[in-house]
Amino acid sequence: MCGIVGYVGFRDATDLLIEGLRRLEYRGYDSAGIAIHQGDRIECRKRAGRVQELEKLLESDPISGSVGIGHTRWATHGETTDVNSHPHVGGNGEVVIVHNGVIENYSTLRTKLQALGFVFRSQTDTEVVAHLLAHHVEEQLKLSDDAEGTEIYVRALEITISKLKGTYGIVAMFRDLPDVIIAARAGSPLVVGVGKGEYYVASDASPLVGYTDEVIYLQDHEMVVLTTTSIDLRHRDSGQLSPNIHTLDQVSTDTDLGDFEHYMLKEIFEQPQTIANAMRGRFNEDEATAVFGGLNLDPQQLRRIDRIVLTACGTSWHAGLVGEYLLEEFARVPTEVEYASELRYRNPPLEDNTMVFAITQSGETADTLAALRECKRKGHPTLAICNVVGSTIAREADGGIYLHAGPEVGVASTKAFTSQVTVLTLLALFFGRMRHLSYPAGKRMISRLKEMPEIIERTLKCNEVVEEISSRYSQFNNFLYLGRLYNFPVALEGALKLKEISYIHAEGYPAAEMKHGPIALVDEVTPSVFVIPRGGIYPKVMSNLEEVKARKGPVIAIACEGDTKVADLVDDVIFVPDVEDYLQPLVTSIPLQLLSYYIAVNRGCNVDRPRNLAKSVTVE
Ligand code: G6P
Repeated sequence: MCGIVGYVGFRDATDLLIEGLRRLEYRGYDSAGIAIHQGDRIECRKRAGRVQELEKLLESDPISGSVGIGHTRWATHGETTDVNSHPHVGGNGEVVIVHNGVIENYSTLRTKLQALGFVFRSQTDTEVVAHLLAHHVEEQLKLSDDAEGTEIYVRALEITISKLKGTYGIVAMFRDLPDVIIAARAGSPLVVGVGKGEYYVASDASPLVGYTDEVIYLQDHEMVVLTTTSIDLRHRDSGQLSPNIHTLDQVSTDTDLGDFEHYMLKEIFEQPQTIANAMRGRFNEDEATAVFGGLNLDPQQLRRIDRIVLTACGTSWHAGLVGEYLLEEFARVPTEVEYASELRYRNPPLEDNTMVFAITQSGETADTLAALRECKRKGHPTLAICNVVGSTIAREADGGIYLHAGPEVGVASTKAFTSQVTVLTLLALFFGRMRHLSYPAGKRMISRLKEMPEIIERTLKCNEVVEEISSRYSQFNNFLYLGRLYNFPVALEGALKLKEISYIHAEGYPAAEMKHGPIALVDEVTPSVFVIPRGGIYPKVMSNLEEVKARKGPVIAIACEGDTKVADLVDDVIFVPDVEDYLQPLVTSIPLQLLSYYIAVNRGCNVDRPRNLAKSVTVE
């Protein structure tokens, strides 16, 4: 995790870095800091807390200059204190670095550096890199007559990173090299922005928007040396490279809150639009199927696919579970959903015709990226279902489908989930129509899907009821979320939302599985949220609900409009429109998003920036 930004040019680096860090805060918000070159020294300012804390510090203790680096942290090693914040200083100020990633052998390196006399101020793995780099700079200087030469510093950084085990995106500045920043990457993303008389480097393209649209995506084991007038790109094995410049398009930084109090609420209310965006241009009415521009596979290859693996983390993994049900029901393709963090190290037998989909909002999740690479290495076609255009996973997959949901700022994912489910429904239609799904069935799916934006608009009318209900449930400390079939992943997602933003313990379960353990938790102070819309399995879920009521458990039900039977039985009911079973997750997930939102607000939690979490998890 963590966000990095660096600049060398003619502008005031302080303002630019601060703005960049604000845009990168989704990657971590435990602390923030910047370092600016001041001619004969490098000055750092850093603070635990959000970027605004750093801004306050800079008001009372300003720095300025035109070469600098900045960092927003998600703590991995060491608490969230000022001292553990980045940038970190190596030696006696000769070197200053920011780092994203995890150095696995930091403890061994630290011991060696301490024996050499280096004094550690923080508990971070990053400070090890800073001192190691200072050490190698000193060594290289001893071996050379040319104390000014950039090559000495490049060599020192090459030697330093050759000793690191783990992942890193590093940007370094050197006291005695005032107009240069050097960036290196292995496992943590870095993108270089190319300007006129200036260069930028950042964890993703968002800090560059508005300054330049020409970017170079650094690959693993590449290093780039940037001055105001030059760029020198090299690879560990193949030496100097000529940079491959891409034009940045469609990156939106439109993150205006409008009239909403929090991004999460804004994003929940965007869903009629984002679901429509996920479907736009993706229907072929004549053939009653879906179309995707970026799969990069011909129809023969697609027809040969006889197994699908969906891999993801967090909320995206829940969307994957809905996808499994959809693909198996409509396309009859055996589908599995794998936690990316498991798949990357497991060695499951994947037959030749297995296609792998990485589902990810950010396109940067380290485990999802590693799982994708592992499957690619084994020769499987890989596709990304991704929101962030130009992200690492979007670029590395063989093909992909964008969600077009716009920036998701709230750490708890909402609109990305429903967009992922929408795209997976289109995929089920697409693969289904290549196999067993009839023309009329395809037509029917298309017309049902087209109704969804309006149905979601109607669903959102439950907002006031949910707000009112939430006030009665905010003080409980344990919740169960229960649903079956398509609503089982919804139950998991509802429980995750509550945990993430209100810090309440919540468990999602298949409703019938409850009697094999979780029912023991049911009592007067453990509410159960039942997702019980009408449909094939309705009477069965009703029995599960009765079992909870019989044990005096309070029940909130998500039920279809007009379902008086459920309403009479439960303590509180939230009505949603009646849709076909396979479309229910799009509808039933919405009151659960709202419920977690209002409970978190009632408990005074920071909804958009919940403790300990980050929007994009770029460490494993
Ligand atoms: C983090 C976020 C979650 C997200 C998960 C996967 O944990 O807080 O909201 O679902 O990462 O992220 P991705 O970007 O790969 O969907």
